Amino acid sequence: MEKIKIICVCGARPNFMKVAPIMEAAARSGRIDTLLVHTGQHYDERMSRVFFDELGIPKPDINLEVGSGSHAVQTAEVMKRFEPVCVEHRPDWVIVVGDVNSTIACALVAVKLGIKVAHVEAGLRSFDRRMPEEINRLLTDAISDLLLVSEQSGLTNLKNEGVADEKVRFVGNVMIDTLMGHREKAGASTILSALGLTPKSYATVTLHRPENVDSHESLTAIFEALETVSKDLTVVIPMHPRTRGNLDSMGLMGWVSGMANLRILEPVGYLDFLRLMTESALVLTDSGGIQEETTILGVACLTLRENTERPSTLTEGTNTLAGCSSKGILDAYRAVRENPPPTGRAPQLWDGKAAVRIVDTLLEVSGRANASGGRVPQG
Ligand code: UD1
Ligand code: UDP
Repeated sequence: MEKIKIICVCGARPNFMKVAPIMEAAARSGRIDTLLVHTGQHYDERMSRVFFDELGIPKPDINLEVGSGSHAVQTAEVMKRFEPVCVEHRPDWVIVVGDVNSTIACALVAVKLGIKVAHVEAGLRSFDRRMPEEINRLLTDAISDLLLVSEQSGLTNLKNEGVADEKVRFVGNVMIDTLMGHREKAGASTILSALGLTPKSYATVTLHRPENVDSHESLTAIFEALETVSKDLTVVIPMHPRTRGNLDSMGLMGWVSGMANLRILEPVGYLDFLRLMTESALVLTDSGGIQEETTILGVACLTLRENTERPSTLTEGTNTLAGCSSKGILDAYRAVRENPPPTGRAPQLWDGKAAVRIVDTLLEVSGRANASGGRVPQG
C-alpha cells in the first residue's frame, strides 16, 4: 500500500515531548514516510538537543535555524525558510503541535500551498488574547484541516466556534504518552542526590511567560512570594533563558541569587526534570505542559497565571490557579499545604496512547487502513 508522506514540525522545548511519540508511532505503523523539521526557535543545548538524546527523537532531517527574534521576525523567518521545504517535498500532511510561533508559521505556509495541516493540541483556549500563544492557537485551528484534541474543553471550544465535527478528533494528550514512557527511566536520575535534596522537602519552580518575567514589577512580586516559600521548602528553579536574561538586565539577579534557600539551575533535561517534579512537595509554574504533567504525577501544582487553557487540570487534576501577585501566590500556597488536592485522577484519554490514535486518524482520513488494523483505540 502506498505510504502517506508527512512533515512533522518542532521548534521550541514543549514541542519535543509532543513530537517524540508521534514520530515513534508513525515509524511503527510502517505506512508513513516522515520528514522531521526543526525550526530552530529553541537552539541552546539544554533547550533542544538534550531532548532528542533523551527521548530518542531522530535527528531532524532539516533545521531551519531561525533562532530568536521579535514575534514578527521569528514567525516570518520560519515561514520564509519552511516554504521551500514544503515545495520540494510536497507532503500529504504537515503536522504541527502546540501553540508556539513555529506552530502558526508552518501551518500558514502549508495551507497556502494546498498541503493539509493537522494540529495536535487543538481547541485549547485561555480566552486571554494578550497571550501570544492564544493568538497562535486560534489562528492555527482556524486554518487546520484536522484538529486533534487533547482534552474535553477543546471539543467544547471548537464546537462553540462553529467548527465542523468532521474536522475534529479527540485523541488525548501526547505529552502524557512521553511522561508515561519515561517515568521508569527518570527514576534512575541522580539529580536529587547531586543537589543534596530529599523527596518532598523542596518546591520546583519554572517561569517563562512574558507577562510574568518581562517586567520588573511582576518578577519582583513572584520572587517575593518565592522567598517566603523558601522559608519552609528549598526552592529549585531550572531557569528558562528568557527569565535569566531579564533578571540580569533588570538588575534583580543579585537579590534573587542571594536568597538562602533558593537554588537557580540551568534548564535541566527531561529525565532530571521528571524526577524533580515527581519528588517535589509542590510545583509552582507558568508552563502549560507542566500543569498537565503534575496532574498525572499526582503532585500539587500552583499555576502562576490568572487563567489556563487546560481546565481539566483544575477540575480533574492537581492544579490551582494562584495568579501572579505575591499575596495570591502565598494564599494559594498556604491553602494547598493545608489541604492538598486529590490525586489519582486523570482526564479522559491521558493514557499513553494518544500518538497511536493520531497516526491511526491520519491514516484513516487519508483513506488508508489504520495502524492498529481497525478501530482507533479509545483507551
Ligand atoms: C516560547 C513560546 C512559548 C513556550 C516557550 C517554551 C512563542 C511565542 N513562545 O517562549 O509559548 O511556552 O517557548 O519554553 O512561541 N532563548 C535562548 N536560548 C534558546 C531559546 C531562547 O537564550 O534556546 C532566549 C532568547 O533570549 C529569546 C528568549 O529566550 O529571545 C525567548 O525565546 P522565544 O522562543 O522567543 O520565546 P520563549 O519565551 O522561549
Ligand atoms: N522541562 C524540562 N526541563 C526544564 C523545564 C521543563 O524538561 O528545565 C519540560 C517539562 O517537563 C515539560 C516541558 O519542558 O515537558 C514544558 O516546556 P515549557 O514549560 O518550556 O513550555 P510550555 O509547556 O509552557 O509551552
